Amino acid sequence: MVTKSGLVMKTARLRSALADIRGSVSYRVHLASIRMKSLCAPRGKKEDFNFDRLLSRLWDNYSTDDHPKDRRMRILRDKRVAGMGVENIRYLTNEMVRRVAQNGVYLEVGTYRGSSLLSAALFNDTTRCIGIDNFSQFNKREKNEYALKRNLAKFGRLRNIEFYNKDYREALRELFEREPHLKVNVYYYDGKHSYRDQLEGLEVMLPHYAERCIILVDDINWPDPERASEDFLRKNPSFRTLLKIKTSATPAPNWWNGFQVIARGI
Ligand SMILES: C[S@@+](CC[C@H](N)C(=O)[O-])C[C@H]1O[C@@H](n2cnc3c(N)ncnc32)[C@H](O)[C@@H]1O
Repeated sequence: MVTKSGLVMKTARLRSALADIRGSVSYRVHLASIRMKSLCAPRGKKEDFNFDRLLSRLWDNYSTDDHPKDRRMRILRDKRVAGMGVENIRYLTNEMVRRVAQNGVYLEVGTYRGSSLLSAALFNDTTRCIGIDNFSQFNKREKNEYALKRNLAKFGRLRNIEFYNKDYREALRELFEREPHLKVNVYYYDGKHSYRDQLEGLEVMLPHYAERCIILVDDINWPDPERASEDFLRKNPSFRTLLKIKTSATPAPNWWNGFQVIARGI
């Protein structure tokens, strides 16, 4: 039998549990993703991939501004997720995944402490986001794996992220042996940036890029990554550059150390 005082206590507990849920990040992320859906192109409408026009809609002035009009990726700074990137790059990553990899795959080499992986995964619940890092760089005190896990945990249980602590060549070999038909819609190579590493990092994925795909390339202020991207494009003419921004300072508050977006079928 439920007494009146028992019922009052149960209602109070329920109210407090609901308040907890409302305050939790996952609830907020979900709300934001519902808001984002309302900004998506309606079903069936072809996405606008005149890239210049798209960027001009998303920024007041994309080449100089420090942030886009939509500030959703500020969530990373608010949650103190440090990384080697800036809001413009985080937003563009998020937006490319939203437009090209819904119900598809994002793959990243060089997650470091997770800011770029989170930039893809947040608000993109239907995208499988695969991160790889062997923590061989920028890791003197060997804290990066712990920092990555702690940063991911700040957003509750993100079911769309998987992570491999391995050399990326080995991780990719194992992944595609297990899943030979897996195709990657958005690929972000942010591992070592020597010419050879960079070119290999783009070419190793050639059998696995989806027909319609995006490649994100960081640090193209440096001659080696820039030359590797250009040689990749020369050798693979079905790919083209959608965006290439170099900055005068490194790192710059708007586009860090330069950024390039390469695409095929778009
Ligand atoms: C420039 S940092 C990545 C920064 C990160 N994307 C961000 O935006 O914060 C490069 C990362 O690539 C990783 N890395 C370098 N060589 C690698 C390899 N062969 N396999 C896997 N990860 C590698 C390093 O451990 C390092 O964390």
